[in-house]
Amino acid sequence: MTFKTVEQAPARLNRSELAVPGSQPQLFEKAAKSAADVVFLDLEDAVAPDDKVQARKNVIQALRDIDWGTKTVSVRINGLDTHYMYRDVVDVIEQGGERLDLIMIPKIGTPSDVYALDMLVSQCEAAVGRKKRIGFELIIEIALGMQNINEIAGASKRLESLHFGVADYAASTRARTTVIGGPNKMYGVLTDKEGDKPRDFHWGDMWHYAIARMVVAARANGLRPLDGPFGDFSDADGFKAQAYRAAVLGCEGKWAIHPSQIALANEVYSPSEAEVKRAQRILEAMAQAQREGKGAVALDGRLIDIASIRQAEVLVAKAKQVAG
Ligand code: GLV
Ligand code: MG
Repeated sequence: MTFKTVEQAPARLNRSELAVPGSQPQLFEKAAKSAADVVFLDLEDAVAPDDKVQARKNVIQALRDIDWGTKTVSVRINGLDTHYMYRDVVDVIEQGGERLDLIMIPKIGTPSDVYALDMLVSQCEAAVGRKKRIGFELIIEIALGMQNINEIAGASKRLESLHFGVADYAASTRARTTVIGGPNKMYGVLTDKEGDKPRDFHWGDMWHYAIARMVVAARANGLRPLDGPFGDFSDADGFKAQAYRAAVLGCEGKWAIHPSQIALANEVYSPSEAEVKRAQRILEAMAQAQREGKGAVALDGRLIDIASIRQAEVLVAKAKQVAG
């Protein structure tokens, strides 16, 4: 193991993250009572320019008045290139009270963006004498942010998670998409010609590189990697397929842009009973192996070794976190 210790972000359940437009206060109570692990109140792209000021007021009131229970509550502020951003930060922290847990920062491009926000948030926190430090969620959704992701992921002690913002990422990289966060049938492999044999066409995952890259940058810095939106909320199977692809690569959760996606995300990102049982059997088998002085043993005809303990421990820890 490396000599460097990677400090882990505060442990939070983040299987589902519900997006709620700040301009639609009638949705706030329902969001607070939903099964989402995290709710983010949006001041950015779900809010039209004419509604920005009112949305900010709504969000401040919601932070003060609504019972959010044990939920993690976040506010997505506007980008650093807008004139809304400074007041989003100042007003929400100065007037929103202590309930806010996280600030979500969109379209991050460089580590200096994080630094600038850290400075502003630190000043606001100090001015109001906040007891609880606000954490940051960063959306990786422009090409510059992806290019600088390694430095960005280590840019502040406030960082908790990186999110793949597939809609803006597609716009920024000029990727060809059909459904937000879904596959494109043009991205596939046609098998070679082999005489008269019929050729197969396999769809590929056009988001694989971006998500895998984000997962590594996040994990190397002790942060949670999160998969962003899936636009077609009438397609539960499509949502789950994308959520599983990201989960398999190491993501911890996914956005829900519609309440119907919350349960789907929670299901995909909670270890199943069978997985937990198998992890427990691995831990038992390895404990026995270690008593016998062995580093590796066979379980169900497959090799397990000390690395298997670490994987099993991660899974059992997640199951405990889910159980509360
Ligand atoms: C999220 O903000 C996205 O652009 O996908
Ligand atoms: Mg976006």
